[in-house]
Amino acid sequence: MAETLEQIGADVRACQMCKLCQTRTVGVPGEGSPTAEVMFIGEGPGFHEDQQGRPFVGAAGQLLTEMLRTIGMRRQDVFITNVVRCRPPGNRDPLPDELQACDAFTQRQIAVLQPKLIVTLGRYSMARFVGQGPMRDLHGRTREWNGITCLAMYHPAAILRTPTPEMRRIYQEDFAKVPVLLEQERRKREVLALAAVAAEPAPKQLDQLPLF
Ligand code: URA
Repeated sequence: MAETLEQIGADVRACQMCKLCQTRTVGVPGEGSPTAEVMFIGEGPGFHEDQQGRPFVGAAGQLLTEMLRTIGMRRQDVFITNVVRCRPPGNRDPLPDELQACDAFTQRQIAVLQPKLIVTLGRYSMARFVGQGPMRDLHGRTREWNGITCLAMYHPAAILRTPTPEMRRIYQEDFAKVPVLLEQERRKREVLALAAVAAEPAPKQLDQLPLF
């Protein structure tokens, strides 16, 4: 039977693959539409996410929700998750073994959703899908990962830490790329689907079919 997001969610909540399970309140699998075309991948749950079992529900989440609204999207239209799904104690950075253990869930969610666009929020997610380097150089850039276009963006918490008009402008510009890239991806798939139909052998003419 095909895997579901619910199954993955249940597995996250029961997961003991890394030591974060010892200190978490609950695992935070991610949430959103099962037919989402865009997947946002952040870093890891903070205090509020750990309490509620939902991603991006604190201050950074409020900014993410607000930014989505500026591009005509709602949280329930996309899928939001993190590279680690249990809160690192004291909100420390996730460690390599924790990132590696949780990557299987990321892969499973991507396999189910088959998103047209992945948006990375913050450096850990960017390092996984777009590449290593300073955020100031890579934000707003895309890279193809396993056939999926991935767009690097600052983590909303970084914008809250440096709330200058310049940072807000940069963030708005990067967010504005989401609907543009999504439209490009839709078109690309349409063209590929049409090309596949055109490449199919022509159906036999009726008068060429044997009668018996
Ligand atoms: N920061 C993240 O990276 N993820 C969350 O879910 C909340 C805050």
